[in-house]
Amino acid sequence: MENKIEWEKLGFGYRKTDYNVRCYYRDGKWGELEVSSSENIPIHMAATALHYGQQAFEGLKAYRGKDGKIRLFRWNENAKRMQNSARGILMAEVPVDLFHDAIVKAIKLNERFIPPYGTGSSLYIRPLLIGSGAEVGVRPAKEYLFMVFVTPVGPYFKEGFNPTKVAVVRDSDRAAPFGTGTFKVGGNYAASLRGGKKIQEGGYSSPMYLDCCEKKYIDEIGAANFFAIKDNTYITPKSPSILPSITNMSLIQLAEDLGIKVERRPVSIEELSTFEEVGACGTAAVISPIGEINDIDKGIVYKFCKDGKAGPISLKLYETLVGIQYGEIADKHNWITIVE
Ligand code: PLP
Ligand code: COI
Repeated sequence: MENKIEWEKLGFGYRKTDYNVRCYYRDGKWGELEVSSSENIPIHMAATALHYGQQAFEGLKAYRGKDGKIRLFRWNENAKRMQNSARGILMAEVPVDLFHDAIVKAIKLNERFIPPYGTGSSLYIRPLLIGSGAEVGVRPAKEYLFMVFVTPVGPYFKEGFNPTKVAVVRDSDRAAPFGTGTFKVGGNYAASLRGGKKIQEGGYSSPMYLDCCEKKYIDEIGAANFFAIKDNTYITPKSPSILPSITNMSLIQLAEDLGIKVERRPVSIEELSTFEEVGACGTAAVISPIGEINDIDKGIVYKFCKDGKAGPISLKLYETLVGIQYGEIADKHNWITIVE
């Protein structure tokens, strides 16, 4: 048995668990779900995932409530998004039922890795779909592997719910309109590594990407969507090159429930000086308030959270979202599935 896990001290990283689950698509159909205790996958050296980036993944979490129950948040939206990603790069789609059975099996088999309630950590679930069939010409594979592993995680940004700092990146793009930015495929993350490294060297937690045509509008904050608050309005970018975040979609609904107006529209970087609160949102990021945005090229630093704390609307949205995820606030939109 490995050392006892210090749940409160977990960062966002990989930790070995007991099992993962796998399913192969061959001869035009999905096979049986298999359980494995190996962290490795045997893969053909000519698999399309390795050469031509035929690969998509998802990210969701299982939460242990105060009542001991395990909750999933809107897992069916992740299932649908993975199907959309598959369609985007011509892979076999994982049926929603298979997606469900695979994540539930992976959670239950690794139940001892679900962080206890109140530790600030949760179980991150990583479904992965790859082109496993061999091709040398640029074409889609005929065989696919779908697998799910889980790993206990803490906050994505070391600051947790304290304000983090981001910096604008102009000399690299993570995605292009009509490209793959709306799909959760590995290539977008490969494209974001250079920008990420550059700003991390400057002490910033995430790059802020702008639209790649005019460099005028805000796209995303690294692996999270962007939102801003102004005049009791929740403002979030509408762009053809950002990932449709399930967290953001949920915050839009929660904002409306709380009587906050919502605007989904192109958000110009020049508007930053008019915003009262800004933040990043996503499964990993949850809501991360942003305290500083440095537009290094222009020599402009935008400051928020002047008292070092998240603003009141970000805080309210955070408490409501997390309250639903842990079963402490009524789930009136039926977003929660209890894992039995
Ligand atoms: N944007 C990118 C590029 C991401 O990788 C993620 C994470 O999945 C998000 C946004 C947030 O999406 P979600 O809220 O569905 O996790
Ligand atoms: C998520 O929020 O689930 C992500 O995928 C972020 C990142 C680790 C890729």
